[in-house]
Amino acid sequence: MAIRVRLFHTGDAPRIAEIVQRCLREVNSRDHPQHVIDTMCAHFTAERVIELSASRLIYVAEGDRVVGTVSREGNKVYTMFVDPDFAGRGIGRQLMQQVQDSAVCDGYDHMETGASITAHGFYLRLGYTDVRTSETEFGLNYILCKTLPLAKAARPL
Ligand SMILES: CC(C)(COP(=O)(O)OP(=O)(O)OC[C@H]1O[C@@H](n2cnc3c(N)ncnc32)[C@H](O)[C@@H]1OP(=O)(O)O)[C@@H](O)C(=O)NCCC(=O)NCCS
Repeated sequence: MAIRVRLFHTGDAPRIAEIVQRCLREVNSRDHPQHVIDTMCAHFTAERVIELSASRLIYVAEGDRVVGTVSREGNKVYTMFVDPDFAGRGIGRQLMQQVQDSAVCDGYDHMETGASITAHGFYLRLGYTDVRTSETEFGLNYILCKTLPLAKAARPL
């Protein structure tokens, strides 16, 4: 299935909330206690996704339907989630490439992200390096960053 990355439309919000909640319950639940997963799921509703779209650039990866999402605010990455049925097919990498390219177009020279235990190895694989760790209400969080290439290499949507 060919996957393309495009900008978010309001109509994507229920599907994004569904993907995030499935990831939290089926993947991230390995690293967090149940009450933390419940709190995070309650936070990521379709309404919340629409609220966030006012301040964040949200992207979706779409084949026959939406299968992943990522967003950025300035040079910070948020909400990187791929439908567990489609994990390990390069969709996360494709989404991150798009978000990095658009940050380059906006003049940023580096990207920052916060990663849970689950996603830490993913970001290291994509060339991010550890800056520090912090304890949040959701547990251990890795802060990572990556230097971005010059603007001429960017491919904006
Ligand atoms: C982490 C996640 C976004 C990765 O998406 P994905 O589409 O499965 O990742 P890709 O297939 O694009 O993988 C890109 C590379 O990272 C590697 N990788 C993916 N997940 C990894 C992990 N958890 N640990 C180590 N490496 C990982 C892949 O092997 C691949 O390497 P390669 O290109 O050299 O073969 C996805 O598994 C997910 O949504 N997880 C649950 C939600 C989550 O934790 N989100 C982040 C919140 S901070």
